[in-house]
Amino acid sequence: MDSFKYVDGVLHAEGVPVTKIAREQGTPAYVYSRETLLDHYTKIDQAFAAVPHLICFSVKANSNLGVLAILNKAGSGFDVVSGGELHRVQKIGGPMKKVVYAGVGKTDEEIGAALKAGILMFNVESEAELENIGRIATDLREKKQIAEPARVALRVNPDVDPHTHHYITTGKKETKFGVDLQRASQVLKNAPKYKNVQVAGVHAHIGSQITEVEPYKESLGKVVSFIKDHRSKDVPLTYLNSGGGFGIYYADKKAPPVAQFAQVMVPLVQQSGCTLVLEPGRFIVGNSGILLTRVIYVKDSGAKRFLIVDAGMNDLIRPSLYDAFHEIWPVESETLPPTRGGAAKADPDATLEVDVVGPICESGDFLAKGRALPKEIKRGDLLAVFSAGAYGYVMASNYNTRGRAPEIIVKGGAYAIATRRETYDDILKNESVPESVL
Ligand code: LLP
Repeated sequence: MDSFKYVDGVLHAEGVPVTKIAREQGTPAYVYSRETLLDHYTKIDQAFAAVPHLICFSVKANSNLGVLAILNKAGSGFDVVSGGELHRVQKIGGPMKKVVYAGVGKTDEEIGAALKAGILMFNVESEAELENIGRIATDLREKKQIAEPARVALRVNPDVDPHTHHYITTGKKETKFGVDLQRASQVLKNAPKYKNVQVAGVHAHIGSQITEVEPYKESLGKVVSFIKDHRSKDVPLTYLNSGGGFGIYYADKKAPPVAQFAQVMVPLVQQSGCTLVLEPGRFIVGNSGILLTRVIYVKDSGAKRFLIVDAGMNDLIRPSLYDAFHEIWPVESETLPPTRGGAAKADPDATLEVDVVGPICESGDFLAKGRALPKEIKRGDLLAVFSAGAYGYVMASNYNTRGRAPEIIVKGGAYAIATRRETYDDILKNESVPESVL
């Protein structure tokens, strides 16, 4: 579970009533619970205790410096996918020896920066990239800017269906990610000819928001036999990176506890004899955050009721982009939402099906459609959008010249602002009117 709970009819983040945060900091606002972050990190750490493992939090899910610093303090490593994310990890003093760098299109500048920073390894997506990393590492070694060859894990595409949204399916052969196992054999055979780059492991991330253990079993099964077949002196494969993807609960459909994933994965990792690298993002931060929003208007139009709120698709794009379900409930309420012990089926006398929409000028701007919510919700009420800690703020934009919401972290009975609300001047700071084009 998480640390967002109703106490006497008021939603609390740990010990803080979120009404207090809204009153003092305004809305919309992202609110994160430190306790939940650490709890979920620890759950993964414990579930995989039987094998040597390194948890590299996937920075793309939530790259807030405060969140990264909390996880760093707990011992986490980091999975980055850009020079910008690497910069964030450097900024919080994250240990470079616990950083893995993935991504299909790393530029030469980004590769150079990561090599100079001394990261643990890259996840490479193709032979062309392997060759390029070798070339850049050779150049930097000749210039004495780095001391060691680059270390990489080869990303394979095991052709496994993770049964999730097609936008976040990555391990099927028709996606752009990794190389198929046959080609991967060829890449390993060719690898020794590239100087200053050493293949030290195999990486396979099959998708995100995965709520079944079977796809992991199938994927790791294939990867482990691949490792066993190819381990040699020339190619000393010692790392097995299973990527991220562990699902969370957004609605009543419960995601399996991480221990269930570990149960099928650990024996396979043991067979491989490798150190396991995990890249969880959503599992750690997803349920650690909510988006607080206020109802601006209640509007009845035709047969429909709309709750027009002050958070829009620029704040949280997941419902518009993936048709994602986020539970929404009034912050002050005598009844509980279904994921927090409320009735699984809405009481037709007490609820009404409404669309929760933002203020942005397009029909795609919604947070929920046809959602049964308490009838009495009125203008000025606060709503919580749950499970918004992952892929929420990081995917926010300034569309409609709306400043991004603040990010607030709660610890026990106190909260702190980790990112302040963006002002109009912040949004315009890189813009000017060039006289020459007038
Ligand atoms: N490792 C790799 C190589 C990845 O591509 C991803 C996510 C992760 C780890 C972390 O996956 P997680 O544990 O968070 O599932 N914006 C989408 C999700 C995109 C996921 C991209 N890759 C969403 O809002 O659902």
